[in-house]
Amino acid sequence: MRTQVVIVGAGPAGLLLGRLLENHGVETVILERRSAGYVLGRVRAGVLEQKTVELLERAGVSHRLHEEGLVHDGVELSFDGERHRIDFRALVGRTVTVYGQTEVTHDLMDARAASGAATVYEAENVSLHGFDGDSPKVRYVKDGIGHEIACDFIAGCDGFHGVSRASVPAGALQTFERVYPFGWLGLMVEKPPVSDELIYANHERGFALCSMRSRHRSRYYVQVPLDERVEDWSDDRFWDELRRRLDAETAERISTGPSMEKSIAPLRSFVAEPMRFGRLFLAGDAAHIVPPTGAKGLNLAAGDVGLLADALVEFYAERSAAGIDAYSAHALARVWAAERFSWWMTSLLHRLPDMDGFTRRIQRAEFDQLRSSEAAARAMAESYTGAFGAESVMR
Ligand code: FAD
Ligand code: DHB
Repeated sequence: MRTQVVIVGAGPAGLLLGRLLENHGVETVILERRSAGYVLGRVRAGVLEQKTVELLERAGVSHRLHEEGLVHDGVELSFDGERHRIDFRALVGRTVTVYGQTEVTHDLMDARAASGAATVYEAENVSLHGFDGDSPKVRYVKDGIGHEIACDFIAGCDGFHGVSRASVPAGALQTFERVYPFGWLGLMVEKPPVSDELIYANHERGFALCSMRSRHRSRYYVQVPLDERVEDWSDDRFWDELRRRLDAETAERISTGPSMEKSIAPLRSFVAEPMRFGRLFLAGDAAHIVPPTGAKGLNLAAGDVGLLADALVEFYAERSAAGIDAYSAHALARVWAAERFSWWMTSLLHRLPDMDGFTRRIQRAEFDQLRSSEAAARAMAESYTGAFGAESVMR
């Protein structure tokens, strides 16, 4: 079997890349280790930058997003119960859209199924070969039978634990990492959100976030120690802890109910450089991880594949390698901007295990600056909405 680009992983990065390439007549095969149902069952990100929305428009998969997505003009920050709103529209003329990763994935899967492009779910033992030369191959096993696909390029869109990054010779890769000593316990509930906008809260007991998926479905998070087990968190315990970390008025107004989903996600910052090895490209979580605080993970994945799709289309249309040669440097410039912002938001809002009075007062001073300095608030708004860095490094 032969195709132009083999894409490993059917998360948002892999599916969006497939769609963007297909729109330009580039043939792809996607290999995904899990079933489509499993991929759709994972609750993850919820906030899309304007650039991500524009890319989904370009991909032709924004119909439902525009019907059901919620456009947010700002967010609220809360410090020990005092709230302050950051008005993105007023500060930087940008907004974000609340539309779950699950929905994005759903729309992309539907579009791919309608187009008839090949996707192999439950592909086992995927392995990558010959990407340092001109004729890469990808092998996999499906229903006990081995297959091999010859291709021009491989796109590693298989997440942090995937096979693509692991296939690169160790010496060719430099990695940078911070592991945070806490996680986020998230809960989904079929109840209206407590507020029209997201609330990010720093409290002495730890971080909390009030988010949503729609006008009827809410997503809440509380910071927990890394060794916490989800089984030890009854819904009641979760609601009590969340209320304690919010201002009294918000705590009072929360509509609680039985959880539809509850899970703990660890927090990590990670970057692998470079993002290209010969004919293998890494994109999305396969190359980098951000802690979720800045809502950047999914947006970064979309940004990577936007660049990569342009580069590959240029290669096929013009026989020019300029785009693919520049891919890693272009992508990494955006990645590091998002790494810095996500690390900063995480440091500003969480209770750190070794936190002393000094660190707490520094957090407070930072919050006060965001409240009183328009320049500080604008810098945050630029990064959160994805305005910062875009013009200088995106083509
Ligand atoms: P993924 O979504 O991880 O997709 C990779 C795909 O590759 C998966 O479907 C996987 O099954 C497949 N795969 C893996 N290995 C192989 C293999 N060997 N062969 C074939 N296929 C393989 N971001 C936010 O902005 N906000 C959040 O609240 C948030 N919460 C998160 C919670 C969790 C638990 C996790 C893990 C991430 C979260 N993120 C969040 C990050 C965000 O969801 C990711 O950045 C985004 O999913 C990246 O998309 P991706 O396509 O690069 O990777
Ligand atoms: C959500 C997740 C985030 O990490 C974030 O910063 C904002 C919202 C969410 O899941 O809704």
